[in-house]
Amino acid sequence: MKLSSFSTILLIHLATSSIYFISPIQCTLNRPSLVEQTCRKTPHYNLCVSTLKSHLVSQHGPSRVNIEGFARTTLQAIAVNASATLKHVHRVFEQRSDKQMRIALDSCIASYTKIVKVLLPEAISCINKGDNKGVKAGASAIANLAISCENKCMATNNSPLRDSNQYVQNLCAIAASIVNYLPQAHHQGLHRFL
Ligand SMILES: *[C@@H]1O[C@H](CO)[C@@H](O)[C@H](O)[C@H]1NC(C)=O
Repeated sequence: MKLSSFSTILLIHLATSSIYFISPIQCTLNRPSLVEQTCRKTPHYNLCVSTLKSHLVSQHGPSRVNIEGFARTTLQAIAVNASATLKHVHRVFEQRSDKQMRIALDSCIASYTKIVKVLLPEAISCINKGDNKGVKAGASAIANLAISCENKCMATNNSPLRDSNQYVQNLCAIAASIVNYLPQAHHQGLHRFL
């Protein structure tokens, strides 16, 4: 009897102390692996991991690291690049005199203005409302504008925005995959993207 109650106490003690000792270690180990697990399900693993790792901890702190944070971080990374692209395309537009290129760049200015001013803020507000379908529709609308900008530039045989257009498309695909792993809120149906 005595021995068995001693071993019970010992077991409880071991179990409790292992909780104290193991959980901080597990948290540290789980954090990168949640990023990796999530990114494995997206079409651009390396870009996904590098984007999430470079933005997450600095913006949210370790306690806010979750899948919703990943989706928001991806959209914020698109916003940073798309805003820089919009400034860049304005500069390139001023420098070019060839008519065809100016027409293409003018259309890219319209596309990136819509991405930065309308679609990204709406997609971010959809994340806040748990409207995953709205986020996916927004990501797809953004990617389509980047593709259309790229196609117009390509028609001039030289795209000065190729890297940015590709990056925006890839991050949109990542964002659309990530929101698949979030619960969908009941109220949804933002048809304004369609
Ligand atoms: C957007 O990101 C891509 C990939 O990192 C980069 O090559 C491009 O220069 C960026 N665009 C701007 C305007 O900073």
